[in-house]
Amino acid sequence: MDRKAEVFNAGRDSPDSIASNPGAQSVLESRPYEQIDPDTYFTMNSAPTQLPAVEAQLAEFVTYHQRQETPRIVLVTSGGTIVPLENQTVRFIDNFSAGTRGAASAEYFLQAGYAVIFMHRERSLQPFNRHFAQDKAGLLDYLCADDADQVSGTVQIQTKNLLLLITFMTVADYLFVLRSVTNYLTPFGSRAMYYLAAAVSDFFIPAQKMTEHKIQSAHGGLTLTMDQVPKFLRPLVHEWAPQSYIVSFKLETDERLLIPKAKHALMRYGHQVVIGNLLLTRKRTVTFITRQDQFTLSLTNDECQQTMSPPEIEAKIVDELVRQHTVFVVGSRA
Ligand code: PMT
Repeated sequence: MDRKAEVFNAGRDSPDSIASNPGAQSVLESRPYEQIDPDTYFTMNSAPTQLPAVEAQLAEFVTYHQRQETPRIVLVTSGGTIVPLENQTVRFIDNFSAGTRGAASAEYFLQAGYAVIFMHRERSLQPFNRHFAQDKAGLLDYLCADDADQVSGTVQIQTKNLLLLITFMTVADYLFVLRSVTNYLTPFGSRAMYYLAAAVSDFFIPAQKMTEHKIQSAHGGLTLTMDQVPKFLRPLVHEWAPQSYIVSFKLETDERLLIPKAKHALMRYGHQVVIGNLLLTRKRTVTFITRQDQFTLSLTNDECQQTMSPPEIEAKIVDELVRQHTVFVVGSRA
């Protein structure tokens, strides 16, 4: 959990800017944090300082695809968010995710003709580069590969400006950037898909309640009290992107909880699809929950045993979603 403080703090607003925000302060005093709604969350946390730069990239990318009349666009979120334990952060709590699901899915969306905004945790897996995760050359190697289809596919992505990479680190970064993306994707309406594969923290320590400096071990054991991050799926579905096609993931470790909790999420937020997956089997099998249907997509034993280019579950997930998204777009025009 230990990391160099400067990695995380580079380019961030001072927490003083929150402490000196009188609105935020009064909310803190008057209500317990766990009941705070998403709007209030944004007034109480600093936006990442790189947000204006990210928004400039988003504006350029989206304008380009509006002009090109690109038929579909997808936001793929990928990797885990972190929650810092100190304002000058030496330690933090991480959420499990290697970023495989997101990075692989982004590749399949590109193959299906989507423009892709790939919003990922810094240094987690990226489309194409994931095949060469140990190798810094990454995409360059991919471009030099013998496989002609692979090469022409990648060149197309570059020349057609189909892939935008943006990053996050903390849960606050994630929520600020997500909200901004929804703003820029509004003109795409039903043609925009949100594919929320990132593992997002449910708990955090508000900056005002965090210690400024490194927690000292001389005081003995550490007891943490964390507040609840507001569920942002509700504003996403009802306010930020009400016209769009929204897919969330539900991760559990207890098989008995998975389907009831996935169904509960769909009922609660009213979006289009929840994809349930279990930590141990997530690479082989997932369950789709929609308003009309429940079904499982799996790799067969034969598929799992293939040694040369084994198929990936993400290919099946994206295939199914592209089909369902098409029905959604047509239905939205009617
Ligand atoms: O990256 P890999 O190693 O390949 O792993 C992929 C994965 C297991 C991380 C991925 O398939 C997955 O399940 N991602 C979602 C993990 C997650 O955050 O699950 P959850 O059950 O904690 O949250 C469910 C949903 O609630 C999430 O889709 C999120 O959009 C939403 N949420 C979460 C936190 C929060 N504060 N507000 C939310 O609205």
